[in-house]
Amino acid sequence: MSYFSETNSEQVVNGRMSPEADPRMREVMSCLVRHLHAFARECHLRPEEWEAGIDFLTRTGQICSPERQEFILLSDVLGLSMLVDAINNRRPEGATENTVFGPFHVEGAPLRRMGERITLDGKGESCLFRGRVLDCGGNPIEGACVDVWSDNADGYYDVQQPDIQPKWNNRGRFITGADGRYAFVGIKPVSYPIPDDGPVGQLLSRIGRHPWRPAHMHYLVTAPGYQKLITHTFVDGDEYLESDAVFGVKNTLIADYEKLSGQPTEWRSDFDFILVEN
Ligand code: BEZ
Ligand code: FE
Repeated sequence: MSYFSETNSEQVVNGRMSPEADPRMREVMSCLVRHLHAFARECHLRPEEWEAGIDFLTRTGQICSPERQEFILLSDVLGLSMLVDAINNRRPEGATENTVFGPFHVEGAPLRRMGERITLDGKGESCLFRGRVLDCGGNPIEGACVDVWSDNADGYYDVQQPDIQPKWNNRGRFITGADGRYAFVGIKPVSYPIPDDGPVGQLLSRIGRHPWRPAHMHYLVTAPGYQKLITHTFVDGDEYLESDAVFGVKNTLIADYEKLSGQPTEWRSDFDFILVEN
């Protein structure tokens, strides 16, 4: 046994773990300690910087509530959420890609009739969203649940403005029939900043990053026997596509929006979702 020193720090700390600890816990914790010590060593972390880091994490925890999860937001802006998602959702070519879930999904959105409107506040440019849920062979999937949510025309989700927006504004669930088709009327989404009035917003501003997300529609598509798909479709041409604050954009998720005239809706966006079998 040797005492802790600058050069053996990692071995000493990891050597304290019990051989009886859960093997996966040992693997993850020893890797974390290894990288944490390497980080401090590599940038020669100063005491006041270490303190600032502790203070930042403390404030990040203090602002968390049932309505606000600042640690997930931190993981999102550091690209960690997207990396964990990428590592765990490697899909075959052609299958629809996942992207970040985000904090604004609400369980149990109203089940709506196919084609029904999800926008309840009368704001925004109306848009018909439609497409099919297919398997990797191009066959329609019957009974898939297409759960959708977006911000309103002012850039806020209903849950961010419970006293202003109608409950379930821009949300709904749709169940596909034998043709695998889904359709609903929402609004052409608008870009919006992630919540930036807390420690994560301060961090972004300190490192010269903006908090904006490019306009997108969220989808959670589930069907028995298939992998869960958590994704968005992005609005082609949005100014923030290449600088999304949470790194959620993928080429394959950028959708066309066609301007319509003489139709009940002002825009139409077609997008098929391709699911992978379990
Ligand atoms: C969202 O798209 O709703 C979102 C994702 C990550 C952080 C904040 C918001
Ligand atoms: Fe969003």
